[in-house]
Amino acid sequence: MGKQGLYELLPPPPVTLGMEGSGVIEAVGEDVKERKVGDRVIMLIRSGMYQEVVVVAAGNTFPMPEQMSFEEGAALPVNYLTAYLMLFESANLKPGKSVLVHMAAGGVGVAVTQLCQTVPDVTVFGTASASKHEIISQGGVTHPIDYRTKDYVEEVRKISPNGVDIVLDPLGGSDTQKGFSLLKPLGMLIVFGAANCVTGQKKNLLAMAKTWYNQLSLSMLKLMQTNKGVCGFHLGYIPDEQLIIRTMGKLLELYSQGKIKPRIDSCYHFEEATDAMKRMHERQNIGKVILLPEAKKEEVVPKSNPEPVENVEKTEAAANEKKEETTEEVKAEG
Ligand SMILES: NC(=O)c1ccc[n+]([C@@H]2O[C@H](COP(=O)([O-])OP(=O)(O)OC[C@H]3O[C@@H](n4cnc5c(N)ncnc54)[C@H](OP(=O)(O)O)[C@@H]3O)[C@@H](O)[C@H]2O)c1
Repeated sequence: MGKQGLYELLPPPPVTLGMEGSGVIEAVGEDVKERKVGDRVIMLIRSGMYQEVVVVAAGNTFPMPEQMSFEEGAALPVNYLTAYLMLFESANLKPGKSVLVHMAAGGVGVAVTQLCQTVPDVTVFGTASASKHEIISQGGVTHPIDYRTKDYVEEVRKISPNGVDIVLDPLGGSDTQKGFSLLKPLGMLIVFGAANCVTGQKKNLLAMAKTWYNQLSLSMLKLMQTNKGVCGFHLGYIPDEQLIIRTMGKLLELYSQGKIKPRIDSCYHFEEATDAMKRMHERQNIGKVILLPEAKKEEVVPKSNPEPVENVEKTEAAANEKKEETTEEVKAEG
């Protein structure tokens, strides 16, 4: 959305994108006591992270657990803070509840699924393309639904005639209406995006108008009589820094306990950023797409070995292999 000028918190162009990242501190300001040169940190800011070296306030850095890779560190803050705050602060997720999450194979969807598993007996309904169902099922989605070929409202009702307790809606428009209709009494619908506005390469005013026209419209009386709750969530508008720091602390603890683990879809070097954007835009990713600041190394094919070199550059396995090398090369300045 930022790329198409639809993220209102982003400064106007020229602007460097990137809200989150990870790296090693190269220098600290005189008054900074809580961080030191050499610390491995995760960073969360509003924009500017697509750079080799960044300057961020110490308060926007979070120490990385030793066993966490830089790729995982960069993948964690936005997706997991969003998922955690929606599930546990806004929706007050409890044992035995059911959750419908759209874009279940996306970064937030994966985070929501993992966090739901930290609470006993939570049922997760997740919409995603059929090709992604096996992976999201393995990740913990109880009922994957192919929204492209099936009516997800009918599919949910077949399994749970009374609907669900929590709906997480990043789509907007008519999907918000459907989400509201699926809520059980005392259920909570959380609207946290408007992905239906993004359809092609460029800003699509028609899709935006359609999404706006079809949005959920309610009277307070109807809200009261249906016993349902509707709430919005936008990480960028949370002014409580202490809440972010506390929640990051909880997330890093969950990571250290092995209860959550960011899923890295693929890694691209800075000069391949267009390919990374294309992968997301074409909806191919399952989990997070990562940008690596170091330049791509030339592939050297030994003359004595005519065998083709297998291109494993963009697989998750390769990302893990690259962990050591990245540890040395990713740099950030606190
Ligand atoms: N409010 C906040 O604070 C906040 C924070 C983070 C993210 N968000 C929002 O949450 C949403 C998910 O973010 P993410 O980072 O998890 O996304 P992502 O990783 O890029 O996931 C995108 C996936 O969602 C699926 N999808 C379904 N309908 C889509 C549509 N209309 N447009 C694009 N993709 C669609 C596609 O998979 P299929 O193959 O299954 O279709 C696509 O691959 C975005 O709308 C984002 O703006 C909001």
